[in-house]
Amino acid sequence: MFSADYIKDMDKILSKYDQKRAALLPLLHYVQGKEGKITPEAEKNLAEYLSEPVVHIHEVVCFYHLYHQEKQGKCHLSVCQTTACALRGAEDLIGYIEQKLNLKPGEVTADGKFSLDVVECLGACEIAPMLQYNNVEYKGFLDKKKIDEIIEKHK
Ligand code: FES
Repeated sequence: MFSADYIKDMDKILSKYDQKRAALLPLLHYVQGKEGKITPEAEKNLAEYLSEPVVHIHEVVCFYHLYHQEKQGKCHLSVCQTTACALRGAEDLIGYIEQKLNLKPGEVTADGKFSLDVVECLGACEIAPMLQYNNVEYKGFLDKKKIDEIIEKHK
């Protein structure tokens, strides 16, 4: 079960919604913010807290790439590999990141500073290829120079 501090914060989030179920996404963000990932135990606790089946919580965690079941690096890079980005060189850029940071998609660097994911359309095809980092910042017309700048900034 979640700690009393968690419950207090989660009750505040829940109070903004008419239906418990509608609060699931912000509650998942809260838990992930606290723990760095969504564990099976957190899914079970959230299911109890919301009186929802745990499979429903798990489906949501698996569906959205912003929820992580493994801990991410301090700077998490998500590169789009869908059609527009693929046609504009996403595969080469993913390979460049892999080589530069010595990691594969789904991995975290040994120092914990960077992690990499390959994701589906980020909704900005007109500025492909597209990178999202730290779940909130975006870089369109991605190229090696922009990748170098991001990596340098987060070393
Ligand atoms: S295909 Fe990459 S952002 Fe849409």
